[in-house]
Amino acid sequence: MKYKIPRGTYDIFPKDSARWHHVIDTFRRVAQSFGYEEITTPIFEMAEVFERSSGESSDVVQKEMYRFQDQKGRSFALRPEGTAGVVRAYVENHLDRVGGKSKFYYIGPMFRYDRPQAGRYRQFYQYGIEFIGSNNPYYDAEVIALEMQFLAELGLKNVSLEINSVGCAQCSEDYDEALRAYYKPHMDGLCPDCQKRYHVRPRRLQDCKAAYCRTLKAAAPSQLDYLDQDCKEHFTQVKSYLDQMDVKYQVNPGIVRGLDYYTNTAFELIVDALGAQNSIAGGGRYNSLISQFGGKDTAAIGFAGGFERLLLALEKEGIAGYEPIKPRVYLIGIGEAVRAMAIEYLSKLRKDGIYVEYNPDKSSFRAQMKAADASGARYALIIGEDELAAKMPTLKDLESSQQHSVDYRQLLDILN
Ligand code: HAM
Repeated sequence: MKYKIPRGTYDIFPKDSARWHHVIDTFRRVAQSFGYEEITTPIFEMAEVFERSSGESSDVVQKEMYRFQDQKGRSFALRPEGTAGVVRAYVENHLDRVGGKSKFYYIGPMFRYDRPQAGRYRQFYQYGIEFIGSNNPYYDAEVIALEMQFLAELGLKNVSLEINSVGCAQCSEDYDEALRAYYKPHMDGLCPDCQKRYHVRPRRLQDCKAAYCRTLKAAAPSQLDYLDQDCKEHFTQVKSYLDQMDVKYQVNPGIVRGLDYYTNTAFELIVDALGAQNSIAGGGRYNSLISQFGGKDTAAIGFAGGFERLLLALEKEGIAGYEPIKPRVYLIGIGEAVRAMAIEYLSKLRKDGIYVEYNPDKSSFRAQMKAADASGARYALIIGEDELAAKMPTLKDLESSQQHSVDYRQLLDILN
């Protein structure tokens, strides 16, 4: 074969589309029940939109972003995530000046040039939520509860919620100092990336997979010991709301997150059975991002989940989550003479929203009846010479084997 699909991407064939739609429909329904509405932003943005927001120290932006120049030499990037585009749209359309609360959800492809493996792709799909307009800890709990309800409705059981607080800009500074003091004696042993991270954003050291850097993580100072009074209180309130909403969680001070814009609450949803790529969703507050984009200082929180990992997790629990769609009725038209009448019924029924299957390649009655049974349709609509003469087709119930002539109105009543 001459052409190959790009590495780290995949095709979604119809047999898998049904599963996707089931997951997407469930997400939309749950998001809407929490008052969230859909936003769709472009798949590419000015590269700066991501560089400014997600990060100086983030691998997602520094190493994994698909950058390109357009015909006029302007620098763009395929979006590696959805938050920055939503915030760009929010500020560009002056929603910060209107004030109030914005509740967005989105679904779409993201792009990261990472090493592909199970659960990690170069084009992958996210579903996400962005709540913009309040620092009230109630909303931290609300977006988390939304995600938990979505997963529960899909039937996923073995998933754990891990939460942390990464503090505000002020407490981050104190924490970064503490981390630098801790890592300084180990400087020579750190990997080259971490030697840079040490200066730019030392908390990233805790995310490193290199052997020596990893051994240092356990005894590193915890962000939770460096929260100021307001941030501590905020985190306490988030936990209290989660308790009231009956959402189970574990506090994990090791949750760092791979993007730079986070403040206060940070969380991840972990499915252990997935192995290395075990985070099926993650998010947190980003209270400084809107002002960084030139908007009015506005607090926000959100999360995104990966469809591929979610589908894998559902599979591991044996949840198919969908029924392949079967035709309601299979149309059998025998002979050239009846073709016009058969096509007329086919078109009319489809316009009336009935799923009709028809195969003009099968000529014998027997072959068509066999195909009707194999299709899983409940009914066969038979049009032969007799039906043509009577101007009425025969409807056969394939479960009871009973059959009788029907006019169009009766037919619709039965099929609907
Ligand atoms: P993230 O943690 O970078 O956060 O990505 C969220 C989820 O996307 C991950 O938990 C994972 O399930 C999925 N994911 C990430 N990279 C890949 C990949 N290469 N292949 C397959 N799945 C992947 C964000 O993107 C933030 N924008 C979330 C957010 C929204 N924070 C605030 N609002």
